[in-house]
Amino acid sequence: MPSSISYNFFEKHFGEPPALALLQQTGLLNAPKDNALKILDHACGMGLIASVIHEATDIDRRFPPAEIICGDISSNAIRATEVRIEQCGWKGVTANVIDAQDSKFPDNTFTHVLCSAGYALMPRPDVALKDSVRILRLAGSLGFTAWSGVPGWVEDVNVALARLGAPMCAKPPVTEGWLDPIFIRSQVEATPGLDLNTLKIKPFSVDCRFACAQEWTDIAVGLLGVITANWTENQKTEFLAKIMPELRTVLEGKHGVGKPFGIKLDFIIVTANKKSD
Ligand SMILES: C[S@@+](CC[C@H](N)C(=O)[O-])C[C@H]1O[C@@H](n2cnc3c(N)ncnc32)[C@H](O)[C@@H]1O
Repeated sequence: MPSSISYNFFEKHFGEPPALALLQQTGLLNAPKDNALKILDHACGMGLIASVIHEATDIDRRFPPAEIICGDISSNAIRATEVRIEQCGWKGVTANVIDAQDSKFPDNTFTHVLCSAGYALMPRPDVALKDSVRILRLAGSLGFTAWSGVPGWVEDVNVALARLGAPMCAKPPVTEGWLDPIFIRSQVEATPGLDLNTLKIKPFSVDCRFACAQEWTDIAVGLLGVITANWTENQKTEFLAKIMPELRTVLEGKHGVGKPFGIKLDFIIVTANKKSD
């Protein structure tokens, strides 16, 4: 898990904006007050979607009360989400270890199945999509975000790694095809049970500005786990501590010392309803 400073930054700047756009696109923000909402957030991480729902709606004052289940394959993520649920005092929110590829919920359970930046990291996103639609109620909403293209921080990190002679990270460890919006569309269209007349796939970008290289490298330490995911212990011993200083040198060479610059992340926001019969 990244440090809380890093995590909070990534959540606020790279996580919340597309998550809010996802909630808007599913219609969840304007759901009629008396609809009984039963929401599943797959690959919840540290509870981003539950947090944005609470910030953007009066979910705790609905009748009948809404239910949110946060699921993630990582027990660490679930423990962190449980702490957050407790600290924030969210009502009707629970967290459980759930593999989105085999959720084990009965058919037709949820009004909404959501997933922010999660399907791409699963070995079988197609299987997870199929299971997500299976557990949706008739006419229920599927909604997810996915990275579109390689995130804007990757190129500079790769330059730094090459200069160190370290293994390249090249791109986040997504499943083949899952940075390509055309491929992702084809996967959604091939998922049984969706009403493709309701399918919306919209681009969404976040362009985050930094005052100087160090401001970004202090945050980017939170990416070290992703960058070194496939490294050996020896490689970590040799290179880990050198990555951020080298990245700072790369960025200062490119943008100037003490000069501002931006990092852009492109997403797609995908929503569709399950067929109603
Ligand atoms: C990039 S994080 C996104 C977290 C959160 N949704 C957010 O937007 O902040 C991806 C998450 O997917 C989870 N994950 C990976 N494979 C999964 C699977 N098969 N089922 C459920 N969660 C999975 C990881 O544990 C991680 O927490």
